Amino acid sequence: MAAKKSKISLADKAPDALTEKEAKAELTRLSLTLAEHDRRYHTEDAPTISDADYDALKRRNEAIEARFPQLVGLDSPSLRVGAKPAEKFEKVRHARPMLSLDNAFTDEDVAEFLARVKRFLNWPEGDALEITAEPKIDGLSASLRYENGVLTVGATRGDGTEGENVTANLKTVEGIPHTLKGKDHPAVFEVRGEVFFPKARFGELNERQVAAGKEPYANPRNAAAGSLRNLDVSVTASRKLQFFAYAWGETVPDIQLIAKTQKSVVEQFAKWGFQTNPLMRVVQDAEGLIAYYNEIGAARASLPYDIDGVVYKVNRLDLQGRLGFVSRSPRWATAHKFAAEKAETELLGIDIQVGRTGVLTPVARLKPVTVGGVVVTNATLHNADEIARKDVRIGDTVRLQRAGDVIPQVLGIVEEKRPKGAAPFVFPTVCPACGSHAVREEGEVATRCTGGLICPAQRSERLKHFVSRNAFDIEGLGAKHLDAFLADGMIATPADIFHLEERYAAGEKAIAEREGWGPQSAAKLFDAITARRTIALHRFIYALGIRHVGETTGKQLARAYGSGAAFVAAMKLVAAKDEAALAELDAIDQIGGTVAEAIADFFGEEHNIVEVDRLLGQLTIEDAEKPASESPVAGKTVVFTGSLEKMTRNEAKARAESLGAKVSGSVSAKTDLVVAGPGAGSKLKEAEKHGVQVIDEDAWLALVEGL
Ligand code: IVH
Repeated sequence: MAAKKSKISLADKAPDALTEKEAKAELTRLSLTLAEHDRRYHTEDAPTISDADYDALKRRNEAIEARFPQLVGLDSPSLRVGAKPAEKFEKVRHARPMLSLDNAFTDEDVAEFLARVKRFLNWPEGDALEITAEPKIDGLSASLRYENGVLTVGATRGDGTEGENVTANLKTVEGIPHTLKGKDHPAVFEVRGEVFFPKARFGELNERQVAAGKEPYANPRNAAAGSLRNLDVSVTASRKLQFFAYAWGETVPDIQLIAKTQKSVVEQFAKWGFQTNPLMRVVQDAEGLIAYYNEIGAARASLPYDIDGVVYKVNRLDLQGRLGFVSRSPRWATAHKFAAEKAETELLGIDIQVGRTGVLTPVARLKPVTVGGVVVTNATLHNADEIARKDVRIGDTVRLQRAGDVIPQVLGIVEEKRPKGAAPFVFPTVCPACGSHAVREEGEVATRCTGGLICPAQRSERLKHFVSRNAFDIEGLGAKHLDAFLADGMIATPADIFHLEERYAAGEKAIAEREGWGPQSAAKLFDAITARRTIALHRFIYALGIRHVGETTGKQLARAYGSGAAFVAAMKLVAAKDEAALAELDAIDQIGGTVAEAIADFFGEEHNIVEVDRLLGQLTIEDAEKPASESPVAGKTVVFTGSLEKMTRNEAKARAESLGAKVSGSVSAKTDLVVAGPGAGSKLKEAEKHGVQVIDEDAWLALVEGL
């Protein structure tokens, strides 16, 4: 509670009441907060605030920007995310075309490349000619134009002459400076290189794609392209793309006045703040090139990014200048490609893996086969539709491809080799990890486990959700500790959290003796857990992690059923398809078939019921606020403006909402009531204009007192 005006946090101060300095700080906070919520929404598919709360933040940002237009930054949320994505990217013409490379496939091709270069230069027999060698990154190329050291335009390659303007997206990529480090930059410098998606996060990205009902990416290259060319910059940002700088376009002054060799330009890139490939080498002859190719080929599988070959370039820039171009590729460079990696092998079985979000992924178990130097024993089959589309059956001979991909793909089957009697694959309807039902929602590609609370595959995620800020909000029990306790078998399900103290009673010891813990921190944790043994019903419901039951739905359910006991009893009846219970659930505002089904699935799982009952045994669940219909503000639209002195803006809002009011950030003809504190400005005028009733904070408190 903010007793004094000076104590009111910026976040609670009305836009109209902010000074310019405060507005600047507040815009920064809002930008960061919104970006974080965007990330949770778009990439984790796990928003932690309601749409209404999100919109309120957005409106606050807009209101402040409207008052201080000079503070609207390039990174403003109103220009960025959520803001209606642009329909498409603008086209940009490259100042110098973005070229492609000639290919070499064999050692002879490489020797021929070098011989051709030497012939062209009339190079003295026996003299060494320096060639750089570097991995050929399997991503997508981009061009970054810096004017006096500042990134002005970033573009994709497009057709080489014209690309797409993806400046904002490229600014989110790691390894791309917004301004060049150091001083005395060339007037113009176009840095070119490859944007890529790290292999290590590829599986996880696809799991999230599938969990969100989207198609998985076939390989990290496609993931990089899809992420960079996303109209919503926040999606690009969340993907954490990377970049290697390896070439350039237009430069003023001419490149040869800046550097003498390819190697030294790349070294300069690093000094300017770009990521450059540490594996770049200078070699002297064809043998050196082949040795490099073999070395990189052997290291390929363990590199953190996909490559599809190596690139050789004449090191001296004066020689590059003399060599020039043939059609669209430089005569001074070539790409030595790795051979296409395909193989055939037998499909021994189809295993079902359960991801941490509960999605069931079919994995092909294969007779071991070497594909491009790597022994492959399994490959993802993505989902039930993919299996059906390719008609993959156990016993089939499948065609595999590792096109530089980490995870091999099953291209299809060899029909002639199908054994007699091979039967179509039947996708399981129970979760192999916990035995709960696995369901596929209409219009979804993914099949999911419904045993959220008890499924070992989902434990870590569920526990994190359970203790998260808007659920049980257990201070000091963060992701790290949860995972450590989980790994040691100290907890497995949410209810175990409330048994920690008694089980480790002698026991405080056990926790206190863990690394990073002491008696004090252990006692503090137990206190934090105890403090949450009493919990609001809506938080309890939200914490269960039922699919489609977010905070808002949690609140609606809480209000409708009133008490924990009533809620659980009704949900058990819903799961048993009791007509009256179903009708009651359907009648709740904004609860549709999808939510009702998800609830029925959850409570239809005996394991979940056992866990809910264990929780009920440990907790005191507070009854929900009185049904909104009894309050004078139920169904009314209320606006708070000016600074409130006896409560924070959030408190006021939460209270109003719990009484069934809709809280809005702006006054219009639809507003029913304006609660105005000192400093209320334009909203007060708007209220007068529309004849809306205005009361002060005390009158508001009197109105809602005792409700
Ligand atoms: S040099 C004028 N170096 O390969 C020379 N290209 O097949 C410009 N690529 O479009 C390219 N890694 O997207 C160069 N280390 C590397 C590369 C590389 C990947 C890509 C690039 C280019 C394509 C040509």
